[in-house]
Formats: sequence, C-alpha cells, structure tokens
Amino acid sequence: MGGDRDWHDWHRDYADPGSALAQRLRVVQEHIGAWLDERPEPRLTVVSMCAGQGHDLLEVLAARPDAARVRATLIEFDGRNVAAARARAAAAGLEGVTVREADAGDLAAYREAVPADLVLMAGVLGNIDDAGVRRTVATLPSLCAPGATVIWTRTRRAPDLTPAIREWLAEAGLAELAFTAPGGVLFAVGAHRFTGTPEPLPAEGRIFRFR
Ligand SMILES: C[S@@+](CC[C@H](N)C(=O)[O-])C[C@H]1O[C@@H](n2cnc3c(N)ncnc32)[C@H](O)[C@@H]1O
Repeated sequence: MGGDRDWHDWHRDYADPGSALAQRLRVVQEHIGAWLDERPEPRLTVVSMCAGQGHDLLEVLAARPDAARVRATLIEFDGRNVAAARARAAAAGLEGVTVREADAGDLAAYREAVPADLVLMAGVLGNIDDAGVRRTVATLPSLCAPGATVIWTRTRRAPDLTPAIREWLAEAGLAELAFTAPGGVLFAVGAHRFTGTPEPLPAEGRIFRFR
C-alpha cells in the first residue's frame, strides 16, 4: 500500500515556503478557511482522505477560535504520518480530531466518519489510476452531507486528467466553486459544492489502490 515511496519524507517540502507543495498547501488552506467562514453551524464534520500529517486542516484549525465546531476524521495509512498528525492535533488542543490509521481506498475506513460537510482529497487523485479516480469521484455522494464542499488537488502534468475529473465531479452532483492552477502544470486545486442527493455509504467496497 502506498507503493515504494517514503510518504513520511514526502512531507519535507512543506518546510520550504517556495516549494510547489507549500504553494499548494496555501491554496488548500485558503479554501478550508473560506469554507469555515461561510458555514455558521455549531457542528461541522470533515473527512480527509490520505491525510498525511494533516498540515492543511490542522494548521487552519490551530489558528481558529472556532475550531471546536469541527469533528474531523483524518484517514492515513502510514503509521509515522498518523503519529505526526496526532501529535500536531494534540499540540493545538484539537480534541475534535481523530486520526484513523486505515486504508482510505477501503470504504470501511469511512464508517462513522461520514457524511461530511467537508471532504479533503489533497495529494490523492494524482496517486491512483484513472479508473480509481473515477470511482472515487463517483463515491462522493456517499461521503458528502447535503451542501458539502469537496477540496481536491491533482497535478496537471501530461496527460492532464483535470478536465475529465471536473466532468466526473459534475456528473456526481458537484458544482464547481473554484479551479485554479497557480503552479502551472505542477498542481491544480479545485473546490466543489455537493448539490446532489446524498447516498448511503456502501457496507463494503474498494474505491482505489494507492500507487
Ligand atoms: C501525496 S501525500 C498527501 C498527504 C496530505 N493529504 C497532504 O496533502 O499533505 C499521500 C498520502 O497518502 C498516504 N497513503 C498512501 N496510501 C494510502 C491508503 N491506501 N490509505 C490512506 N492513506 C494512504 C501516504 O502515506 C501519504 O501520507
């Protein structure tokens, strides 16, 4: 699972503010902050697929006085990243954050974590095959609460799958709020709003295998 890549070391580029990864992080965090600003509810639910060390969500929550509104489940396979995310959440006093050591390609990992008001898919869609991307997007109605926001990233290096992903999102009932590619071909970030009808989470099933 997760291929041969060292997914703990992968996070090192976040320390360089000029890196594409750090730029991508800033865009994702802006979307998360905007989502929190526009949702007045006292309780909000987040699920982060392949959450890594949780930089995106946890850094935003750590800086917000209303972080206690959020119940978040971070699903991550690498035990070292799970430990880092748990430590980050604990250091920021984020009691509503659960980091689940699990395979996010397995629908069982989402039990009791969904439906979510925010679904984060950062660094996921570029690491699974096209059929897996399509299945994952088609599964969003089972992960989303009514009116949920989905924030996703994907490289635009050839062959650029982002046009197809945007079509598949529309077919799944997700309306585009934003799509930007400030990193040129290096990365794109999309934010979509679920306008369709939620579907129950299937009892079992696989949506992707990570490369
Ligand atoms: C490209 S990184 C993205 C991490 C994080 N979402 C971010 O943007 O900072 C991909 C992450 O997926 C994790 N991963 C790989 N296979 C996984 C799986 N089957 N289930 C859950 N996480 C997985 C890796 O350990 C890694 O932390």
